[in-house]
Amino acid sequence: MFVCICNSVTDTEIRDAVMEGARDLDAISEQLDVGTCCGKCKSCAKRVIREARAEMAYNAISSAIHMPGPAAEPATA
Ligand code: FES
Repeated sequence: MFVCICNSVTDTEIRDAVMEGARDLDAISEQLDVGTCCGKCKSCAKRVIREARAEMAYNAISSAIHMPGPAAEPATA
């Protein structure tokens, strides 16, 4: 969906930018021009950023939990 109509920026583009390292609205605005015209999209953009960051944190925790343990030592005779 479009988040920023003025600059034709979608939620997917914002999520991708967050995944690539943008962490807040200022960084997203600098990269994608979100909120740089009328500004009415800023609250929605912040929500998308928050959701993307939460998803990243969840995925990081989930990956840590499901990491395999140390490899078993090969049996010696
Ligand atoms: S809708 Fe984003 S600046 Fe206007």
